[in-house]
Amino acid sequence: MRKNIVAGNWKMNTTVPEGVALAKEVNEALKGATVNCDVIICTPFTHLVPVAQSIDSEVLGLGAENCADHEKGAYTGEVSAAMVASTGAQYVILGHSERRQYYGETAATLREKVALALANGLKPIFCIGEVLEEREAGKHFEVVGKQVEEGLFNLSAEDFGKIILAYEPVWAIGTGKTATADQAEEMHAFIRGTVEKKYGKAVAENTSILYGGSCKPSNAKELFAKPDVDGGLIGGASLKCGDFMGIVSAF
Ligand code: 13P
Repeated sequence: MRKNIVAGNWKMNTTVPEGVALAKEVNEALKGATVNCDVIICTPFTHLVPVAQSIDSEVLGLGAENCADHEKGAYTGEVSAAMVASTGAQYVILGHSERRQYYGETAATLREKVALALANGLKPIFCIGEVLEEREAGKHFEVVGKQVEEGLFNLSAEDFGKIILAYEPVWAIGTGKTATADQAEEMHAFIRGTVEKKYGKAVAENTSILYGGSCKPSNAKELFAKPDVDGGLIGGASLKCGDFMGIVSAF
């Protein structure tokens, strides 16, 4: 059966010492708690090595927030999937709306990134989600369906089985305006149906679909109670151990 997962996306926050301290705090808190889901933190590239050395990978998973769309070579400033994997990280967030919006990532770029992540043994946390105008125009299912299809449906069923999906409505990210649990469930069920049409019921039932966008301790329980919501991708609230643990304990 699919896993329940709570993953933190630190975005461009914390210095290395601050990040290492936060990772250690989360790791310790998890050791002392009853945890009913997988827990992952995704940190800036600079933090991956010292964080990997400071946490217990059995307790807390580690991921990057991006990787390059080329294998290696003359791409100044880029960080490859192989480099990410060599830090000890096991996951990589790909296709976050901030990458799509501010750095022009397209479905074609993302297919390259996904392929390289998988080739290097990383599990992609693949983000999808509509902007407010698309929802208001009633196009949110069409937009999200297309993002899933164009970004991932070139994969074999075996490789698709390694993908974690994260539905993050752009209007809910960092705004304090969460999707209601019903809105999240409706979209997650639609996404699972889209996966089922392509890969069949077994693959669809095994795919973890996380919700992201202003998820916090006060709303996590209601969101995670929905049958197709398998956890959360947490931005702001993952930067405080207490808030992050409050979300983890919603399972
Ligand atoms: P917030 O939780 O800060 O809204 O961010 C969500 C997000 O973008 C996680 O990837």
